[in-house]
Amino acid sequence: MAFVTHRAVRSLSSSAVRSAAIQHITVIGGGLMGAGIAQVAASTGHSVVLVDQSEDILKKSQKGIEDSLKRIAKKKFADKPEAGSEFIEKILKNVSISTDAGSVVHSTDLVLEAIVENLQVKRDLFGGLDKFAPEHTIFASNTSSLPITDIANSTSRQDRFGGLHFFNPVPLMKLVEVIRTPMTSQKTFSALLEFSKALGKQPVSCKDTPGFLVNRLLVPYMVEAIRLHERDHGSKEDIDLAMKLGAGYPMGPFELLDYVGLDTSKFIIDGWHEKDPENPLFAPSPLLNKLVAEGKLGKKTGEGFYKYK
Ligand code: CAA
Ligand code: NAD
Repeated sequence: MAFVTHRAVRSLSSSAVRSAAIQHITVIGGGLMGAGIAQVAASTGHSVVLVDQSEDILKKSQKGIEDSLKRIAKKKFADKPEAGSEFIEKILKNVSISTDAGSVVHSTDLVLEAIVENLQVKRDLFGGLDKFAPEHTIFASNTSSLPITDIANSTSRQDRFGGLHFFNPVPLMKLVEVIRTPMTSQKTFSALLEFSKALGKQPVSCKDTPGFLVNRLLVPYMVEAIRLHERDHGSKEDIDLAMKLGAGYPMGPFELLDYVGLDTSKFIIDGWHEKDPENPLFAPSPLLNKLVAEGKLGKKTGEGFYKYK
């Protein structure tokens, strides 16, 4: 991976799919989600620039992408390790990194943001990039819970603004929620649907409502599990086991909270509580607040509800 602007898109294989409209993408935020999105876009033949605040963070993002590709290559090329290495190398060549978003968006078709879940920070980012990006460039947010309209209003391109909500881990989860606001043009919405398909994902159409479809159901469920535990109605281990064996979920709610990130989960529930304080589903959780205050943010920091090596 190089520290430059967009590279020419390289053809990965005859099966690699590429959106006709969106070819060059800039992903802002190289954390859990941004790195995963960059990986999937690069794997499907798109040219990607991944942007974050420091080179150190971007090095971690690169390592995460490489490790994930190794897991995929190990399965895909079980008997041909050399072909596996070639596969990884080709994909990595489609990803450049940068710490300066303003200087890389001049040649991009899509700016996709996956930074911290904070409305003002996202508005500042897009408001600033609006003047650097070309006219045709679409802006999209991967927000879990914030209104796309409120983010889009920071720019002069509300018609070319939508939501692209991916799921963690991005390389494995098939769904993308494609969100349109009342201002999103049909052309933009269609381009985002097509782009999701070009990534090999299954898109669903969503309106700009809190949590869209999945998180409106999933987040209250996870926070309700914490409340069950806070009331001493069950240990976190038993609740996790119960949901895995009794409901067939791949992870229990505490495992999933750690996987998503406790900071992100807290930002989501606090944001909804602020807007709808009477709704008991959105009430803040003292235990979640305590863990976040202690810096225990889940798997990404080595400890959340559980400890990780
Ligand atoms: N990259 C590449 N491959 C990966 C991977 C990654 N990041 N993670 C796992 N894999 C592969 C592994 O190599 C493994 O393959 P093999 O078994 O063939 O070796 C396979 O996937 C299964 O992995 P594991 O055995 O480690 O674990 P698993 O069987 O439990 O599957 C999982 C992992 C897919 C994450 C599964 O546990 C799961 O679906 N969990 C629920 C995830 C979920 O609900 N995500 C949504 C979160 S909410 C959200 O994202 C929205 C939001 O806004 C907060
Ligand atoms: P994360 O903490 O893993 O990564 C966020 C990254 O953004 C960090 O690397 C940080 O350095 C970077 N960043 C912050 N401000 C920045 C800025 N102004 N410019 C450039 N980079 C900046 O977070 P994440 O879990 O990847 O979540 C990112 C977004 O995706 C959030 O909006 C979150 O709600 C959403 N999301 C998260 C999940 C999940 O399961 N974690 C799933 C879907 C959507």
